Amino acid sequence: MPEDNQFQPLAPARLHGKSDEEFGVFKPRASKPPRRSSKCPVYVLAGLVTLAAIALVFALAVLRVEAPDVELKSVAVKNLTHGTSPSPSFNVTLTAEVSVQNKNFGAFNFENGTATVLYEGMVVGDEEFSKAHVESRKTKRMNVTLDVRSDRLWNDKNLSSDISSGSVNLTTYAQVTGKVRVMKVVRRRTTARMNCSMTLNLTSSSIQDLVCR
Ligand SMILES: *[C@@H]1O[C@H](CO)[C@@H](O)[C@H](O)[C@H]1NC(C)=O
Ligand SMILES: *[C@@H]1O[C@H](CO)[C@@H](O)[C@H](O)[C@H]1NC(C)=O
Ligand SMILES: *[C@@H]1O[C@H](CO)[C@@H](O)[C@H](O)[C@H]1NC(C)=O
Ligand SMILES: *[C@@H]1O[C@H](CO)[C@@H](O)[C@H](O)[C@H]1NC(C)=O
Ligand SMILES: *[C@@H]1O[C@H](CO)[C@@H](O)[C@H](O)[C@H]1NC(C)=O
Ligand SMILES: *[C@@H]1O[C@H](CO)[C@@H](O)[C@H](O)[C@H]1NC(C)=O
Ligand SMILES: *[C@@H]1O[C@H](CO)[C@@H](O)[C@H](O)[C@H]1NC(C)=O
Ligand SMILES: *[C@@H]1O[C@H](CO)[C@@H](O)[C@H](O)[C@H]1NC(C)=O
Repeated sequence: MPEDNQFQPLAPARLHGKSDEEFGVFKPRASKPPRRSSKCPVYVLAGLVTLAAIALVFALAVLRVEAPDVELKSVAVKNLTHGTSPSPSFNVTLTAEVSVQNKNFGAFNFENGTATVLYEGMVVGDEEFSKAHVESRKTKRMNVTLDVRSDRLWNDKNLSSDISSGSVNLTTYAQVTGKVRVMKVVRRRTTARMNCSMTLNLTSSSIQDLVCR
């Protein structure tokens, strides 16, 4: 019985006495091998955690799919006609230069897209985008031709005064839908949108104050 009581306290004393000076020279020799074997899995685990973190950052940065940026770069005016009699109207052909910037690490293929021109919230012209392909991290520019015909409007009261004043405010809305494919792993459908406002100057036959959001 007394022998058992003496042995029992020894075990905890050894465990807690790792840095105790009391054990002097003998202690390090006895404890070194178990220390190595217990730290090795820790390094392996730390390595795995680091690898997992790198893989996660890679996945988030490279495999993430973002909608491309669609921008209206410029609008050219052609064949503008306008008049107030018998009824106020204007006809114009707008050539919009649109850029599609693909920031993804994979090609963007767009299947369909539409551009719409509105006057006071009413559609006066629309057009479909042709199918296109934008390489990974590249920007593609294309021209979209929009035939704007105000006779689509039904007796708008402000059109007469707008035409007399020599300028018409228009808004343009464009939407492009397509698929982004990253490294044959990720394949996602995404939609880019653009919303711009501008003023058509009937006197100079040009577009002014082009502002996009
Ligand atoms: C502009 O009108 C002319 C004839 O007046 C026509 O030949 C031309 O194709 C028109 N251009 C556009 C872009 O509609
Ligand atoms: C605009 O075009 C329509 C037909 O598309 C025509 O009836 C109208 O007279 C034209 N307006 C002007 C001002 O040329
Ligand atoms: C593209 O087509 C899909 C279905 O095929 C449709 O849901 C979507 O509205 C279309 N987008 C445009 C901009 O036409
Ligand atoms: C778009 O049209 C303008 C002239 O209207 C031209 O200068 C430009 O090169 C065209 N861009 C493309 C991509 O065709
Ligand atoms: C005409 O313009 C006024 C202000 O400029 C606006 O409040 C009104 O809604 C416009 N009318 C139409 C039919 O859009
Ligand atoms: C047209 O837009 C310009 C600025 O973009 C603004 O100052 C003007 O009041 C607008 N005119 C009408 C009739 O809404
Ligand atoms: C375009 O922007 C205007 C002003 O921010 C907003 O009132 C309108 O709803 C937008 N149109 C679309 C189709 O998002
Ligand atoms: C339209 O253009 C003419 C000539 O460039 C200019 O004198 C006029 O101020 C412009 N109109 C508007 C509403 O900016």
